[in-house]
Amino acid sequence: MSTGKIESVLSEERRFDPIESFASQAQVNEERLDALRRRGGSDPAGLWADLSREMLAWHKPFTVTLDRSRAPHFAWFSDGQLNASEACLDPWIRKAPDRPALIYEGERGDSRSLTYRELGEAVERLGAALRGQGVASGDRVVIYMPMCPEAIIAMHACARIGAVHSVVFGGFSARSLYDRVVDASAEVVITADAGRRSGKFVRLKAAVDQALEHGEHPVRRVIVFRHSGEDIAWHDRRDRWAHELTDSAAAGCPAEYVNAEHPLFLLYTSGSTGKPKGIQHSAAGYLLHAKLTCQWVFDLREDDVFWCTADVGWITGHSYVAYGPLANGATVVIYEGAPTYPDGGRFWSLCERYGVTVFYTAPTAIRALMKLGDELPAQYDLSSLRLLGTVGEPINPEAWMWYHRVIGRERCPIVDTWWQTETGGIMISPVPGATPTKPGSCTRPLPGVHAAIVDENGNEITEPDRGGYLVIRHPWPSMLRNIWGDSERYRETYFGKFGDSCYVTGDSARRDADGYFWIMGRLDDVVNVSGHRLGTMEVESALVAHPAVAEAAVVSRPHEIKGESIFAFVVLKSESARNESAPPKSEGEAARSEGERQAIAKPSKQGAMQQQLRAWVDEQLGPIARPDDLRIIEALPKTRSGKIMRRLLRSIARSEAINQDVSTLENADLVRQLTQP
Ligand code: WT7
Repeated sequence: MSTGKIESVLSEERRFDPIESFASQAQVNEERLDALRRRGGSDPAGLWADLSREMLAWHKPFTVTLDRSRAPHFAWFSDGQLNASEACLDPWIRKAPDRPALIYEGERGDSRSLTYRELGEAVERLGAALRGQGVASGDRVVIYMPMCPEAIIAMHACARIGAVHSVVFGGFSARSLYDRVVDASAEVVITADAGRRSGKFVRLKAAVDQALEHGEHPVRRVIVFRHSGEDIAWHDRRDRWAHELTDSAAAGCPAEYVNAEHPLFLLYTSGSTGKPKGIQHSAAGYLLHAKLTCQWVFDLREDDVFWCTADVGWITGHSYVAYGPLANGATVVIYEGAPTYPDGGRFWSLCERYGVTVFYTAPTAIRALMKLGDELPAQYDLSSLRLLGTVGEPINPEAWMWYHRVIGRERCPIVDTWWQTETGGIMISPVPGATPTKPGSCTRPLPGVHAAIVDENGNEITEPDRGGYLVIRHPWPSMLRNIWGDSERYRETYFGKFGDSCYVTGDSARRDADGYFWIMGRLDDVVNVSGHRLGTMEVESALVAHPAVAEAAVVSRPHEIKGESIFAFVVLKSESARNESAPPKSEGEAARSEGERQAIAKPSKQGAMQQQLRAWVDEQLGPIARPDDLRIIEALPKTRSGKIMRRLLRSIARSEAINQDVSTLENADLVRQLTQP
């Protein structure tokens, strides 16, 4: 199966030239792109400086472009001052106050729209309310919201007063929320009563309550938006309704001007250890890239209706929902709900009804909708679409071709955009009016982006089609500035391998003879499930936290829709050890551990334990982390030095032939057992 796919990628020879009618209108044509590339190649800092002067409304102009004195912590435009939210919204509030900024649709078809003026007013009201609650510049505010206008208003309200937002995806569990609140030491949480997905409530306020009961934390205020109207528990001393605060807040909310390097937000993402990393982005450099790439990659204009389907809980929802498109004065569509609710035509129906012109989604969604056939999309008028994009993982050529043919009706360019939470914005991508595309390749780095493929020693691989480390060899304005509170981990993770000027992405890639990049996957212990990164260690830690589990090893295997899925190998504790570590507290628990005992004793009962452990991971981390496969085994295969042989487990999970050397295996007998179905 998987080899078939890899081969089809390797032999991909289809090539699509820019569509003439698109290219002739595009903001960046071939000539402009060449000029930008030349400048970006020889003088990247100069290019970024020019662009930031042109594109950002500076309160105080900068004189220093790139400061390398604290490398690998690089600073851009550091003596300049601005306010990121003001720079984003105010030009449009002045120029086109009545243009829709946000068009929201809920799963049940309820819809609302906010003009730029209304958005600006809402941001100021919430900003003033936050100030009224004692939130000051530099304070961290956690946002745990459904995908609705108030989530974006909350982000901008923080930015407006210089507070640092940290959005936690609403699908993450109370436990994940707790960890992030504590790591960021946030005193204020903004949430809503509940959101909706697939016809069900997502009880956000209840999860906040649960998180804050979990242990010690710095939170003194929870601000709650009324969204679904669900009943919620209330803590008088801590909780406040957002509408009550904004109604009574002082009028107006002057923007707080901050230094270019002031943190705009933190966004937690998985790494190869169990602890999520708080990726820290800067105000000016980040905004520049978000705004600029909307023009370069999405050819975005004021009259575009842009729909990026990502939730604001991910970086895509920051750069290409909350900041980039608004900075360009476009109209942004947001949808709160599942792509298949009530059926798989929902995305296409939204595109038709709102006249979406540029559509940006993830390969996992494309594959899921492709499976439902061509008839559903054929029922909708998709003629408003002029450009399609994808992000999150490599798109398989079959899905690319379907997107091109069935959604784009062969008249929309496709931009396959490679980037990461850490890069802040798109780094490698076609420029749709200029770059010929090949299904499955993100093509070439954008101007000023010095992406390269290097070998183990950091030497560039020039030979075509040889895989290596994907690295970026010159700093860029929207790069992460730090891992919150852990400079050492920042240095080690991103610059530990090849030195201070060589950012290591963690991906492997190859370049073909035309210099096109093909992303091959992650090199670290990270899996990519539905376009979202998860650390295998995180899932392992969650499993081991269960009283019945002694050891766990988590690997990935290819999955038709999600890209990759999680496969967990679990070793259970002996009965006596389990009773020691988790004495049953109640009758209910006593009964459950009796059930667990039986689960081990009789293999037929293993299913119950597997279910229980999968549900446990869901509860600890959220549904995207739930293992699709979970196998209970007697012991983990280890080398004599005690290292888990993950490559071996990966082969087993993928039902591949075991061709690695197992001579160093401590418990050699195990392999035989493991490979027996
Ligand atoms: C990882 C970053 C960037 C927003 C979404 C995910 C993979 C991302 C592509 C693409 C191949 C891709 C990489 C990367 N990835 N886009 N177009 N082609 N792989 O953000 O959670 O920070 O994950 O997603 O492996 O390192 P993220």
